[in-house]
Amino acid sequence: MRPIIRLFSSPEKLADSVAADLTEAIKQKTQTGEAFHLVLSGGSTPEILYRRLARPPYRELIRWQHLHLYWGDERCVPPGHSDSNYGMTRRALLNAIGLAENNIHRIRGEDKPLEEARRYAGEIEKNVPKNESGWPRFDWIFLGVGTDGHTASLFPDSQVLRIDDKICAVSTHPSTGQKRITLTLPVINNAARLSFFATGEKKKEVVSMILKREPGYHNLPAGLIQPASGNVEFCLDNGAASLLTETLE
Ligand code: 6PG
Repeated sequence: MRPIIRLFSSPEKLADSVAADLTEAIKQKTQTGEAFHLVLSGGSTPEILYRRLARPPYRELIRWQHLHLYWGDERCVPPGHSDSNYGMTRRALLNAIGLAENNIHRIRGEDKPLEEARRYAGEIEKNVPKNESGWPRFDWIFLGVGTDGHTASLFPDSQVLRIDDKICAVSTHPSTGQKRITLTLPVINNAARLSFFATGEKKKEVVSMILKREPGYHNLPAGLIQPASGNVEFCLDNGAASLLTETLE
């Protein structure tokens, strides 16, 4: 399915538009009292979005009590470590919205990776409804993309990319050796909505390779994100989109 490309003149405009979309998506889904299961991405790109959600009007408009937050991946470090995706989200968003602890399903980066992968998978199994595929179906998964084409903590040439029977797994950062916990491809591809956020010139090559389906794009983990239903969105600023022309595949 052809990706949907959404271009924004700045990261701020991207953040504001996605915040408005998320507000509406949660409102629609939770009218019947159902929960909205959202997976947050890590790294630096989404912080501007999380800070935008923590400010008016979205802080007041979003029905936070219906929202359950998860992470697509986490570095195996304590929550107070500067590398922690949860720690970044706590500072950028969670401290401002007073979300109940029961609604926050963080990955415990401080615990033994294999045990935590199993625990987190069990928490997802318990809370996130499955669809006919048998996989948990998140309402929306936010994703980033590394310049090497990784997404979540699914790295190029990793054996984790072949996992087709687990919700999450332990992976290893190829250059730092840092252990990570990550959702697996089947779970990510089963989401009701999938959005990449990429900003800045440094992402232009990887974004172009994936969207133009240049040779080798399918070797990139981000190039393997193909939702079982619907289209994956690429939310880009001008810098990340600067190699895209109308000749997109
Ligand atoms: C992580 C992320 C990872 C991130 C990309 C892009 O834990 O690092 O989940 O997949 O989205 O590395 O990171 P930046 O937004 O910092 O470029």
